[in-house]
Amino acid sequence: MSSTDRIEPDGERKQVTVLFADVMGSMDMAEQHDPEQWRRIMQGFFSILADEVRRFEGTVDKFTGDGIMAVFGAPVAHEDHARRACFAALRMLDDIAEYAAELRRKHGLNFSVRIGINSGEVIAGAIGEEDGGYTAVGHTVGLAQRMEALAEPGKAYLTEAAAELAHGFFELEDLGEFEIKGASLPVRVFELAGIGTARSRLDLSRERGFTRFVGRSEEMEALEAGLERAKSGEGAVVGIVAEPGVGKSRLCHEFAERARSTGVEVFEAQAQAHGREIPFMSVLQMLRSYFGIADADPERIVREKIAGRALLLDPEFADELPVLFDFLGVPDPERPAPQLSAEARQRALRGVVCRLVRAPNRREPIVTVIEDLHWMDGGSAAMLGDLFGAVEGTQTLVVVNFRPEYTPEWAGPPDYHQISLAPLGAGDTRELLRDLAGEDPSLDGLADLIHERTAGNPFFVEEIVRALAESGNLEGERGAYRLARPVEDTGVPASVQTVLAARIDRLRPQSKLLLQEASVAGKEVRARALRLTAGLAQEEMDPLLCELTDAGFLYEAEIYPERVFAFRHPLTREVAYGSQLAEQRAATHAATARALIELNPDRHDELAALIASHMESGEEALEAARWSARAAYWAGSSRPGDALRLWRRVMELVEPLEEDEETTAMAVMSRLLQLDFAWRLGMDSEEEARLAAEAEEIATRTGNLGSLALLKMATAVRPGMIHEAKAWLAAAEETNRLAEESGDLHLRVALRGGSAYAYLCAGDFGGFEGELDKVLEMTGGDRTVGAGIVIASPVAWATMGKGLALRERGRIDEAEELFNTALRIATEDGDPETASWTRSNLSLMLAMRGDVAAGVAMARRNCELTERLGDVFSRSLALSNLGAAQLAAEEYAEALESIEESERVYREAMDNGGEMEAWRAAIRAEALIGVERVEEAVELAQWASDIARERGMLWSLPLALQVLARARAEAGIEGADEVLAEAAEVAQRTGAVLSLEAIEEAREEIGAGTT
Ligand SMILES: Nc1ncnc2c1ncn2[C@@H]1O[C@H](COP(=O)(O)OP(=O)(O)OP(=O)(O)O)[C@@H](O)[C@H]1O
Ligand SMILES: [Mg+2]
Repeated sequence: MSSTDRIEPDGERKQVTVLFADVMGSMDMAEQHDPEQWRRIMQGFFSILADEVRRFEGTVDKFTGDGIMAVFGAPVAHEDHARRACFAALRMLDDIAEYAAELRRKHGLNFSVRIGINSGEVIAGAIGEEDGGYTAVGHTVGLAQRMEALAEPGKAYLTEAAAELAHGFFELEDLGEFEIKGASLPVRVFELAGIGTARSRLDLSRERGFTRFVGRSEEMEALEAGLERAKSGEGAVVGIVAEPGVGKSRLCHEFAERARSTGVEVFEAQAQAHGREIPFMSVLQMLRSYFGIADADPERIVREKIAGRALLLDPEFADELPVLFDFLGVPDPERPAPQLSAEARQRALRGVVCRLVRAPNRREPIVTVIEDLHWMDGGSAAMLGDLFGAVEGTQTLVVVNFRPEYTPEWAGPPDYHQISLAPLGAGDTRELLRDLAGEDPSLDGLADLIHERTAGNPFFVEEIVRALAESGNLEGERGAYRLARPVEDTGVPASVQTVLAARIDRLRPQSKLLLQEASVAGKEVRARALRLTAGLAQEEMDPLLCELTDAGFLYEAEIYPERVFAFRHPLTREVAYGSQLAEQRAATHAATARALIELNPDRHDELAALIASHMESGEEALEAARWSARAAYWAGSSRPGDALRLWRRVMELVEPLEEDEETTAMAVMSRLLQLDFAWRLGMDSEEEARLAAEAEEIATRTGNLGSLALLKMATAVRPGMIHEAKAWLAAAEETNRLAEESGDLHLRVALRGGSAYAYLCAGDFGGFEGELDKVLEMTGGDRTVGAGIVIASPVAWATMGKGLALRERGRIDEAEELFNTALRIATEDGDPETASWTRSNLSLMLAMRGDVAAGVAMARRNCELTERLGDVFSRSLALSNLGAAQLAAEEYAEALESIEESERVYREAMDNGGEMEAWRAAIRAEALIGVERVEEAVELAQWASDIARERGMLWSLPLALQVLARARAEAGIEGADEVLAEAAEVAQRTGAVLSLEAIEEAREEIGAGTT
């Protein structure tokens, strides 16, 4: 495929303004008139309406019989689409009123026009048969039509959306809210009452109150140096270039104010976006500013002003006055200007302008600011060269500004400097933001987000802050906001959207398409991936990329080892992304996913989540489910939060798909593995039950033994449940039986490893060790066997578990060695979860052995590392082990804090206290004794002993009893001895040597205390 064959999408989403104008009074009159005459009359109306649409570069979408529908901002986007529509509407109303008056006079007919205007998103493009015309469709169009139907004769009505964009530039009268058919909420309606006071966006900012001027000291110095030179007769031209909103106008304004304050005269002119078709608009403006002419001045005064100033400068101007009067629209009836051809007239005018600049009597320095050259009409632009040439050797400094897409055409004025204005740096942006939003602490962090999104463009900063205030994310007054709701996405304000869309639309269609395709990939895109996605040959794509980088949309972020392009503005990317039709965008997403797969054969795991998300946006549900599952496996217990979310996604993606072997397997696995993360992260018990029931239904129906084994594990064996030892052990055995029957070695290893935990908790250390030995034997030394199903590294877990069994039986040195080995394996095999548990156990062991400082330090470090996992189970365990180590160090208050935090973390996420709850209660009671809250300690230790005994949790029971005995002794309650006797009996029975030693110590202490 070559770039010229590339099918351009047949439509786009665009932000536009739609205008409906309807000539009223027609229907009933049609009957009374000769059809031919009637046709002529109607054509008169249509051509007035259509002319005004075209004058402001709108598109006549269609003739509606009685009127027209026009679109501003499509096919080519205009950043001021709403303003153009309003200008057109005002002129239509005037012109039609005039025409209607004429018809009334000549034919006694009564006509009027009414107009409706709305702004918003439309789908614009060719519709229908092959050459079906370009048209806009969507809710926005319908609402514009309703505005028209609502409008009174001779009036134009705007919706709130259009009014928002036209505000300040036009006088608008709020008519209140109206119920509109087809709109779910009442619509606020405005009447267009006339031209407003603002001429530019900067005027609007001024009306709202300027923000504090920040940065720009170098640029200001350059301008002031230019003025100093001009004062000494070295007149010059300075050009300021920057993208929209970066601050050209503001810089010029600040400079002009400073110049004025030193007594320098400043004249200003400004080209208008809608003025490109209006000849000499800018030169006229310049002259009006120069002669100090106000809109309301009567003609005679205007002539006096012109003559007064011109003759003062140069008496010979007398001859030129008729030309000037004529040009400025105030011809002197007594001295009409000579009849000249258009060309001769233009020449004469050029002469006048140059002579004004070089006038012999000019003694004072002046500054002339001409803004927005990129919008200048052809006639004015042609005159710029002469004007600039004339500046040489005078005391005039001319400052012009324009956007980068404009290339100065004048033939090199003798002294021209150009300043490229960069966006604001992070510091200046922050200062601007402080001025706009204030310094409330709740705003911390917002500055970075906004700087990143706006890339330092002050206009975007202002608009985003305004939008956040309007959406209620920010509360309070300008300059003193508070964050009311967290900001997840700042969105693209409509005012910014129109500016960016207009820039994008100036690209050639193929470059624009490539930009849209790039936007799908994300903030950055690799050149090779983009080429695959777009289906272009290298030599076809390069010139397009060149255009996109030259125009400042993309920049080359990396060139080695391969070229990577990045969007200069995050907002541009969003606008390019949002402008595509859903269908086109979906296809690009799917192509992007395929390019990722093809180009990264070694990184599929790592990229799986990204590929899945592109597949999903590309509407390829099955592929999306496959890649999500892969990503979920990859996230595993290292990133349990991600894994859970991804498994849930797999389940949802598979849901609507047709049932086959693969989709059924995914339906079961996705549920089972969600359950597998429930004990790590917590889950609503209803949701848990539902997932289990659904998984069971599918697994039973398909007779999948492996799934049933996993299900048994999930519903009866896994940690985090209130277990009763006997039932738990039975369920563990049943799970292992099912796993054995399935014949799947991986499953056998994974499930035996996982279920072995029941033996430990029941105090059967030998049984625990035996199960773990079986696991190690089954793997045959291959650490990948059974990996990642329940535990990331079953070998690491089994090794740690054996260490635990030895620790409990007092074989400390061997235990330490096993813990260290387990830690190494867990690290090598990418199992941070088992590593965390191992560190928990090791740290406590160090503390119990007497290395309290080392134990506490390790436990602390473990808490930090575990926090990053985002896993509640492990985090709670790490905290309680820290507490236990602190107890050994006799830091009771700190210990209590750690243990309480552990309890809180666990309870917040889980429905119950899990299998460790008696142990946590026991150590908490111990901490309470330490801080001399013995009564609470007695109660808590009593409860811990009771539930451990009731549930058969013999691992925890001796400790709980031992603490109870101490607490009683401290509280002076009888019966400590019996309690210790029970503790000793249980420890003896289970072979808990370490506990026996502790019990012995306690006995001595208590004895010493009582005698
Ligand atoms: N240095 C600055 N300090 C504070 N505010 C600024 C600064 N520069 C620009 N602004 C504000 O940012 C907004 C946009 O600036 P401005 O209108 O000067 O941009 P521009 O480059 O002229 O854009 P356009 O090409 O659209 O005319 C204005 O509200 C202005 O007050
Ligand atoms: Mg400007």
